[in-house]
Amino acid sequence: MAGTDTNTGDRRPIGVFDSGLGGLTVARAIASALPAESIRYFGDTLRCPYGTRSEGEVRAFALEAARWLEAKDVKIIAVACNTATAAALPMLQRMLSVPVVGVIAPGARAAINGTRSRRVGVIATRLTVENGAYAREIRERDAGVSVVSCAASNFVEIVERELATGAHVHERWLEGPDVFDTPAVRAEVARTVAPLAEADIDTAVLGCTHFPLLVGPIRRALGPGVRVVGPAEETAAELTDILCRRAQLAPGDTPPEYRFATTAENIAAFAAAGSFVFGRPLKSVEQVALEELEALG
Ligand code: DGL
Repeated sequence: MAGTDTNTGDRRPIGVFDSGLGGLTVARAIASALPAESIRYFGDTLRCPYGTRSEGEVRAFALEAARWLEAKDVKIIAVACNTATAAALPMLQRMLSVPVVGVIAPGARAAINGTRSRRVGVIATRLTVENGAYAREIRERDAGVSVVSCAASNFVEIVERELATGAHVHERWLEGPDVFDTPAVRAEVARTVAPLAEADIDTAVLGCTHFPLLVGPIRRALGPGVRVVGPAEETAAELTDILCRRAQLAPGDTPPEYRFATTAENIAAFAAAGSFVFGRPLKSVEQVALEELEALG
């Protein structure tokens, strides 16, 4: 079988998916932690947002995305979407032939590692908050941690809307200024996270992969006493661990190949915004029709 010899490693790509561009924050962390690994990314932009949908709908979309990646011969799949992880992770793990990793357990680990007071805030989509997956994962690691959750599905819309303007694509996110930190965004973020700002937490976990793009306004609203963490680096560490144990890391001299697919109608806009979030140009972007996905469900 191609690339599965334990001596030579496995050059097949890591599959990553999200409802849109947010999962590229995780793909970016994977590319930094594992520079020899190729990535195959799928963003379901046409059906974004997921966080305001029903669990059944998100489960169906997640299965289609994962099967699409599986058919592209990926060696492992990272569900770079907290909402899809909350709704569908065990089902995906049962139904696919490759290992599937979610972002909620890594996010919970980041929260546990960050907190000293053992009072943690979770900022996530409505579906993720209502599902309760973060609180469960955090309490499984430390039953004494208090978890205060805040539903912020509106942040997904802010990020997708701000990215769609194309106004920031020449900025360098992470290294540069807080590009989305406009007065209007700042006010909406502060209003949304107000319950957390008053909850005496010392750590907040960004339980949606779109939210790192709003980390500036979120930090400002929560104040300097609150550490803000996310699942991206811990997810990359978990992938590293699994691939290492399965002797499936790509050999160190492998030049990585990054390929992207989306249901977005405007793939040029997806590529421009995606390059900004991923931190490198999205050179190969293909469009996937909903009919093709629905046939996989
Ligand atoms: N980025 C996704 C998450 O991590 C979902 C955003 C959405 O489509 O609502 O939850």
